[in-house]
Amino acid sequence: MNQDRDKRGRDFHRPVLEHEVAGLLAPVLPGVVVDATFGGGGHTRRLLDEFGESVTVVAIDRDPEALANASALGVAFVEGNFADLGRLVAELTDEPIAGVMFDFGVSSHQLDEPGRGFSYRKDGPLDMRMGPDAPHTAAEIVNEWPADRLADLIYRFGEEPLARRIARAIVDGRPYESTTQVSNVVAAAIPAARRRAGHPARRTFQALRMAVNDELDAVNSGLEQAIGILRPLGRVVAISYHSLEDRIVKQRFARGATGCVCPPDLPVCGCGRSAELRLLTRKPIRPSTDEIEVNNRARSAVLRAAEKVAA
Ligand SMILES: C[S@@+](CC[C@H](N)C(=O)[O-])C[C@H]1O[C@@H](n2cnc3c(N)ncnc32)[C@H](O)[C@@H]1O
Repeated sequence: MNQDRDKRGRDFHRPVLEHEVAGLLAPVLPGVVVDATFGGGGHTRRLLDEFGESVTVVAIDRDPEALANASALGVAFVEGNFADLGRLVAELTDEPIAGVMFDFGVSSHQLDEPGRGFSYRKDGPLDMRMGPDAPHTAAEIVNEWPADRLADLIYRFGEEPLARRIARAIVDGRPYESTTQVSNVVAAAIPAARRRAGHPARRTFQALRMAVNDELDAVNSGLEQAIGILRPLGRVVAISYHSLEDRIVKQRFARGATGCVCPPDLPVCGCGRSAELRLLTRKPIRPSTDEIEVNNRARSAVLRAAEKVAA
């Protein structure tokens, strides 16, 4: 039974830095932990296996396909965007929240399933929505957005230096119905001499995915709400896969960990600021080479964690 349960989750997604996440959350137990990006439930499974009844996990994912994994683990689940974390958690529990974990981005299941339209290697519809709440589809963006807007998107989210050239080629090649049509046009727009490691459409597809799902706004809002709902000494743990995601986490944690900003020679504090967070990871934690060897998708992962200070 447990073997079926574990295989189902692992086929869906292999968790990244699971040992480190469990170690960072151990001190908040016993208590309720929110898995805000449940996916295949790998991080939750690890907590349940390691801490048994001292942890109660409640789960969120915007992808309705995650529900079956939560049922297999017997975990309460609500479908929704963690941009609405406070409201979603209130639907799941009225207990104090000891921990919140985020594992941003997409699951392997979403990437590997051609019908979801995330893959530049497999033919599929131009969808890329993680769930029905996403504000756009990839088809809308590639077929309707003006070249300037497309170029900004590909440059910013894809960190693609040839963004303008690619955006122009996408506009010129309209209309599109499938992922392969777009990935061929992007590949043809990049001269052989300017190609880097990996598939030439990888950065453009990543940018499209981030815009389709409004990913960075959700990270901002989800993190803010997670810090708001944590009980004193509760912990938030976040794994990012993109420098822009990580920057949001790093800056929010740093702001939260900043206390009084008065000059040191002022006899009494005049600014009224006190830190709301304590940083648990001054330097971010990254996967070991052993982990990356068995799970290539871990290669860009960056983990940061913070603790809410006592009231
Ligand atoms: C990297 S996977 C998480 C994998 C999970 N930790 C595991 O071990 O199986 C990211 C998951 O977060 C979900 N997700 C991403 N952004 C979300 C958001 N804004 N709100 C809710 N779920 C989100 C995706 O649908 C996906 O299932």
